[in-house]
Amino acid sequence: MLAVLPALIAISVFSVGSWTVSGSQSILDPATTSVPHLQQDDAHDTSVISPVPYRALTPLLDTPWTAKVGTLPWPQHPRPLLYRENWQTLNGIWTYQPAFSSTELPNPPALPLAREVLIPSCIESALSGIMANGVTYMWFGTTFTIPSDWPTGQRILLNFEAVDYEATVFVNGAQVGFNRGGYFRFTVDVTDNVNPNGENSLLVFVFDPTDSSPYHIPNGKQTRSPSHIFYTPCTGIWQPVWLESAPPNHITSMDFSADMEGTVTTTIHSSAGGSDPVEVTVLDQDGSVVSTQDAVSDESFTFAVPSPKLWSPDSPTLYNVTVKMGADAVSSYTGFRTISSGKVNGVQRPLLNGKFVFQFGTLDQGYWPDGIYLPPTLEAMVYDLGLLKGLGMNMVRKHIKVEPDLFYQACDRLGLLVIQDMPCMPATVSMETSPPDASEQAEFQRQIEILVNEHKSYPSIVTWVIYNEGWGQLKETYYPEFPIATRIRELDPTRLIDATTGWFDHGAGDFSDNHHYAEPQCGTPFNSLPSSPYDPSRIGLQGEFGGIGHIPEAKNLWPVQAAIDTINQTYEINSDLDSYNYRAHVLLDLLREQVARFACSGAVWTQTTDVEGEVNGLVTYDRRFVRVDATQWKADIQAIYAAANARA
Ligand SMILES: *[C@@H]1O[C@H](CO)[C@@H](O)[C@H](O)[C@H]1NC(C)=O
Ligand SMILES: *[C@@H]1O[C@H](CO)[C@@H](O)[C@H](O)[C@H]1NC(C)=O
Repeated sequence: MLAVLPALIAISVFSVGSWTVSGSQSILDPATTSVPHLQQDDAHDTSVISPVPYRALTPLLDTPWTAKVGTLPWPQHPRPLLYRENWQTLNGIWTYQPAFSSTELPNPPALPLAREVLIPSCIESALSGIMANGVTYMWFGTTFTIPSDWPTGQRILLNFEAVDYEATVFVNGAQVGFNRGGYFRFTVDVTDNVNPNGENSLLVFVFDPTDSSPYHIPNGKQTRSPSHIFYTPCTGIWQPVWLESAPPNHITSMDFSADMEGTVTTTIHSSAGGSDPVEVTVLDQDGSVVSTQDAVSDESFTFAVPSPKLWSPDSPTLYNVTVKMGADAVSSYTGFRTISSGKVNGVQRPLLNGKFVFQFGTLDQGYWPDGIYLPPTLEAMVYDLGLLKGLGMNMVRKHIKVEPDLFYQACDRLGLLVIQDMPCMPATVSMETSPPDASEQAEFQRQIEILVNEHKSYPSIVTWVIYNEGWGQLKETYYPEFPIATRIRELDPTRLIDATTGWFDHGAGDFSDNHHYAEPQCGTPFNSLPSSPYDPSRIGLQGEFGGIGHIPEAKNLWPVQAAIDTINQTYEINSDLDSYNYRAHVLLDLLREQVARFACSGAVWTQTTDVEGEVNGLVTYDRRFVRVDATQWKADIQAIYAAANARA
């Protein structure tokens, strides 16, 4: 029970219903801060308690964007592939309080809750205003009104972009929705529960069993005991919440894939699920119509756009799309490109628009010292991507995390190929002693289908990754990556599948993917255990290498002793930047040589940024100190592409 209380910052007493928590704490390390003293409040106060006001707390380490967050974070429309005119963000100041167990679920508390919180945020983050650690059950609440200029007779849709891990949603006291899975959107039609002319209450009960035995949930690198390569967790409503007005029969999602021949394959999914007439219009970069197609909803159809300008990292050309279905009108975009696997001069290669394009980028964790899992702002998120692009990289491996949709839109626009990992079940649990049970395995597979369906219309995503380094990977009785890969191909036949990135490769998927530090072993006839030898029938990929580090000045370092204590577990520490860049040059040149001699088709450098106790980023965790010698890195990366082109 005690473990569910949030840590308190500079507050001596605060009330949660009839409980009083006392004790003043200054938080230096959320991971080790002790739990405040809890006592029964004898004089139960029934008067309305005003919530502890919001203020952004001081993060252990800030970024150039921390002070720019304000109290309306992420104001942008959050779903670029399906834009509808009447929408309103619900981001901003809500209230929050921890709960003690799921027995509170049937009895939502009255608003306001105990203290204000910034939505969206991870409650562990300073930006949340909470900076809690180890909370398993909690409530979030707010009130909202429906914009008076929205047309009547429409449906009111309440959208959550991501809540980690389970969310039960109440509107005006009625339970209206439930979602499981920390990375994905869900939409609740609240039309029948809202008062269109007055104030409505919204309460969300969240359950997040990260690291709670016996749960195995897909949560990537989150852990309540951060150390070395595992980091602070994220709990709560960590991506935008918003309202939308849509006609009674409306478009719920759209699948678009557009290939190098100009063929567009589309399914327009509708809320009624019938075969309703739809009209799809594709516009070019000048806004001129290049194709209009009539079809019906909820069935796949294809049509042609003559001689489209293709999408590629060098020329990330996008086409706007508008879709009408009855009274519903939405906009989206697509890019024309084809991803495949084929032999070029006897070597199996990833092909983009029929040509071998060597993929070079970073392992991208997407962690932030101020926002933890949520970038402080859109500009901050795009800064990381711009850093990669600026060095001449053409790819990013989104590592066991799923980002806000605007991340993928940014990759589409910038021209960065995305290798998208499925967030794994805990790596820290021994598969031999505590593997996921059948229902947990089924849930993992259900969520990977959601990952694919929700993101398969982003042109930049080229590869789906099922398992990373054996984490959460069953392998004692059968190899689940085979049936999962088969299922992903059914859902999305247009991309490649990296079934196992690192370690336990049993032959599934399109890649033979080795992890090796610090030197690459990319498509080489030699390999170090536990990686499997290169398999020439599949594409040789270096899923991770590099990882060399450099200890930054204290002002750029995550000041948590448990993290600092693991710095020396970094594969290699260089005592100054000259030696860091020299070693990077040696490793990139080794990769170039392997590209020239063997069957290396892509490589992922560890990593974009430092994260907590890992000091191996191109830039420090606070994004304030860039380690790379840009001129040298650009030249080294171009030399790798040149070696690949010489083989093509
Ligand atoms: C494409 O759509 C976006 C979003 O609606 C808009 O900002 C942009 O101007 C459009 N581009 C063209 C060429 O019409
Ligand atoms: C890490 O290693 C360096 C060099 O061996 C040593 O000086 C330092 O004390 C070590 N740090 C920790 C936290 O163990």
